[in-house]
Amino acid sequence: MLRQALLAVSRSARAERVISASPLTRGVVKRHVADDVAHTVKELTRRGLLVTVDHLGGDVRDRAQAEGAVRAYLDVLRVLPEGSDVSVRLTALGLRLSEQLALDNAATICEAAAPRGLTVTLDAEEHDTIAGLHSIHDTLRKEHPSVGVVVQAGLPDAAERCAKLDGARVRLRKGALTVPGGHASPADVDRSYARCLRVLMAGTAYPMVATHDPRLLGIAATLAVLEGRDHNGFEYQMLYGVRPDEQERLAGQGARVRVYVPYGAGWYGYFMRRLAERPANLALFARSLLSRC
Ligand code: FDA
Repeated sequence: MLRQALLAVSRSARAERVISASPLTRGVVKRHVADDVAHTVKELTRRGLLVTVDHLGGDVRDRAQAEGAVRAYLDVLRVLPEGSDVSVRLTALGLRLSEQLALDNAATICEAAAPRGLTVTLDAEEHDTIAGLHSIHDTLRKEHPSVGVVVQAGLPDAAERCAKLDGARVRLRKGALTVPGGHASPADVDRSYARCLRVLMAGTAYPMVATHDPRLLGIAATLAVLEGRDHNGFEYQMLYGVRPDEQERLAGQGARVRVYVPYGAGWYGYFMRRLAERPANLALFARSLLSRC
C-alpha cells in the first residue's frame, strides 16, 4: 500500500515540484545521488571501490532528447577511470520511439567506452521493454562482447534467462514486485535470486551480484567458492549511499565491489523509487528532514 502510494508520488509532477523545491530534500538526496559525479567517482575509487554511473535524465519524447542522453554518456566517459562501467537505460536512448534508434545510440556509447577500458551495462526497466532489452543486448554483444545486461530475479523466467546468457556480464538484481506475472512475494523473489545465482556461478557468465541483502550476499560468496571462482570471477554491486560500510568491508577482503552512482537532473523518480522499495528508507528520510527543521 505504502509502496504503491510512493510509486504514485514518484510519477506526480506536482509532488515533484513540491519535494524538489525543498532545500532539505536536496541534502538527503545528495547521499544517494552524486552532485558532482567526477568527484564522487574519484572518492569511491580512492577507497578501493569500482563504479558504474547512471545518468538520470528525464523522459525521452523525441530523437533530439535521446541524442542529448548519448552526449551526456559520452561526456561522463571522459572522466571515468579505466575499469569503470556506465549503466544505460535504453528508454533514455529512445527505445520507446524505435528499437533501431536505441540500438544505434547504445552502439555509439559502446564504441566510445571500449578504447578507454570502460564497459557498458544495459539496465532493465518496465516489463514492456524487456524483450527489446534482450534483443538489443544480443545484437550489441556480437560487436561488443563486454556489454552487460540486467536480469531481474522478480521475473518468472529469470533463471532461464540467466542460463541463456553464457559468457555475458550479467547484473542480477531483485527488481520490483509490481511486474505483471512476476513473483508474488519478497520470499519468492529471494528464492528466484538464489536460483539465478546458482545458474550464473555454475556457468560461464560473469555474475554481478547487485543486492544489499546479507543472506544473498552470503549465498553468492559460498557459491563462488563451490564453483571455484576467485575474487576476479564475479563482483558485488550496491547502490551509492546504501550500506557503504559493507561495501568497504567486502572490498577490504579483496572482493570486487562496484558502486552504482546515479547523477543528473532526473534524480526525483530514482529517489522516490528507492523510498518505495524499502519503507525503512522512508523513515530515515523523514528523520533526516525532521533533524534539519
Ligand atoms: P531488499 O531491499 O529486499 O533488502 C534486503 C535486505 O538488504 C534488508 O533486509 C537489509 O538487511 C538490506 N538492505 C537493503 N537496503 C538497505 C539499506 N538502504 N540500508 C541498509 N540495509 C539495507 N532498481 C530499478 O528500479 N532500476 C535500476 O536500474 C536498478 N539498478 C540497480 C543497480 C544496482 C547495482 C543495485 C544494487 C540495485 C539496483 N536497483 C534498481 C534496485 C534493485 O532492483 C532492488 O530493488 C534494490 O537493490 C533493493 O533490493 P535488495 O536486493 O538490496 O534487497
